This record gives sequence, C-alpha cells and structure tokens, in this order.
Amino acid sequence: MKTILGIESSCDETAAAVVSRGTEILSSVVASQIKVHAPFGGVVPELASRKHLESIAPVVEQALEEAGITAGQVDGVAVTRGPGLVGALLVGFSFAKAYALALDVPWVGVNHLLGHIHSVLMSPSPPEFPFAALLVSGGHTSIYKVSSRTDMEVMGQTRDDAAGEAFDKVSKAMGLGYPGGEIISKLADSGDPHKISFPRSWLDKKKFDFSFSGIKTAVGRYMQVHEETWQDEKADIAASFQEAVVEVLATKLINAAKSIGCPRVAVAGGVAANACLRDRVTQLAAKAGMSVHLPDISLCGDNAAMIAAAGYYKLAAGECSPLNMDVFSRVEK
Ligand code: KG4
Ligand code: ZN
Repeated sequence: MKTILGIESSCDETAAAVVSRGTEILSSVVASQIKVHAPFGGVVPELASRKHLESIAPVVEQALEEAGITAGQVDGVAVTRGPGLVGALLVGFSFAKAYALALDVPWVGVNHLLGHIHSVLMSPSPPEFPFAALLVSGGHTSIYKVSSRTDMEVMGQTRDDAAGEAFDKVSKAMGLGYPGGEIISKLADSGDPHKISFPRSWLDKKKFDFSFSGIKTAVGRYMQVHEETWQDEKADIAASFQEAVVEVLATKLINAAKSIGCPRVAVAGGVAANACLRDRVTQLAAKAGMSVHLPDISLCGDNAAMIAAAGYYKLAAGECSPLNMDVFSRVEK
C-alpha cells in the first residue's frame, strides 16, 4: 500500500491527487468553481454538484498523468466523506467507490476536517505529537488536540459562523465579491487595523469556543451609522475587522496549547493562507516559546493531497470502507 489516489468534492473545488506513502505529493490538481458561483455571491449547491460531475473524470485523469502513473499503479483510493454539501460529496464519493471497485483496490472515506490537519503533517518537518491545531475554513473553526495521525480531539469550536464565513459575509456586505477572504486581506494591507475597534468575542477566555456572528453584525452596523462615509474607509474597515478576528484566533490557539502543556501549534484550512493570521500566530508562539507549523499556501484551501494522506494512514492501519457507506453533511456517524 504505497500510492494513494485522493478525491475531494465537498464544496466548490473538484480535486484529485496522487500521494506516495502519506507524505510525498506526486500530483495535486484542483479545479475551482469560483467563477460559476461568484455571480451569486456564494456557493449554489446544485450548480456545484453539476460542475463536479463535469470535472471529476478529467481531474482524476490529469492527476494520474501529472504523477506519471497509470490507473493500474494506484494501490488505494481515499475520498472525502463529509462534512460538506451532500450533493457535491456524492459525486466524488460515488466516483471513488466505482473507481476502486474497477481497479480492485481498497478505498476509504475520510473526514474533510481531519484531512485539513494532514496538510500540516505533510511538511518536511512536521510537528511532534501532541500539538494544538487551529482549523479555520469557510465552514468550520475549531481547535484540536492532535495526539497522532488518527487521534484528533476537538477542544473547542465556533458556536455560529466560521471565521472564513465571516470574511465572506463582510466582503459581500461591502459589495466586494466572493470568496471574501483573499479580497478582504488584500484590502486590509492598505488599511489601519486599529482605526475602528470592532468587538472581540472571547466568550469564556479559558475555553476554546468561538463566535464570529457578532463581529459581522458590528461591521454592518458601522456601515449603517457611517452611511455617507464608509465607502472611503473600506481599507480601514477590512484591516480592523481582520485584526479583531485574527487576535481572537491566535490568542485562543496559544492558550489551548498551554492548557494541554505542549509547546507546538499548527494552523490549517483556507483561512490559514491569511498572512496576518500566520504572522500573529508566529509572533505569539515565539513569545510563549512554542514552535509553529503552517502548511504550504497551496495546501491551505481544499485539495485532495490532504485527503490522500489521511486515507493512507487509515488504509495502512487496515481500515477499508464498505461499498454501502454513505456521506455525511455535518456530523460523522
Ligand atoms: O478550507 P477552504 O478552502 O474550504 C472549506 O472547507 O470551507 O476555506 C475556504 C475559506 C473561505 O471562507 C475563504 O474566504 C477563506 O477560506 N480564505 C481566506 C483567505 N483565503 C481563503 N480567509 C482569510 N484570508 C485569506 N487569505
Ligand atoms: Zn476545507
């Protein structure tokens, strides 16, 4: 069991990758649907499913070609099982089952969120176990205690919006487009992060849950109150919003690592590409004497290499999914 084909279709990216021995990425192809969904200001589930159907076979073919292997050289298939959009997940999931059956190789369903954490473990110098990992994406914001490649325990999570969702919603409210993370962070580069004091939602400071719906509302209120002038302050609004979100994320991650007595932190997920978050976690970790582990930018957003890596360790441990396994939208059963 050496060469794994990974498949990912949980949201708006159709991805396939070939990974050797859980760490060596031979290819990673991501077909983004951003252009399809951008006119609607967010992902339209039915359009996503249809687009995945169109892209899945060519994306898998391209991944094999770029890896320089034939289908016959695939030893196992790993595919995202959830969480995500059910119609979108079913495309990749059904394709993976059929592909594995045709090749007569084992296959395994992978939790997308744990897949994101594997993006940190694929680096040339991965953290030792255990470590505290902040997972920040468009649909999730959680802190995990990662004890091994297969043992990851949730220490806290968002009670409402995810951090990436807050970036997307603020961008939409300001009429800046979708997805908002990259747009807001670029705009923030020319703004003053201390100009507007948006609320920091700490909840219980000793715990690791998050809440980001309040800050989204606060930005909307600021725009209403400054109806005539906010258009001239877009960069300051973006920078001040980003500062408030990043401060809470980075501080809670460091506190979580302290609470489990381990001097190692990691960040994963789409929002891990945010330069301000990467810098702040690095600064706070240095102050606390902790090592920081950040994935390569190409592995922050949704990709199939992380799914192949997570699947490799499951298959290597003897796990193999049955053909009647279903996907899940929110909670793994
Ligand atoms: O992990 P991901 O690709 O998909 C999900 O599993 O959700 O994360 C996508 C999220 C989006 O909300 C996007 O706006 C956000 O990641 N994002 C960023 C940045 N790049 C992507 N947020 C802040 N700063 C960025 N540079
Ligand atoms: Zn994701």
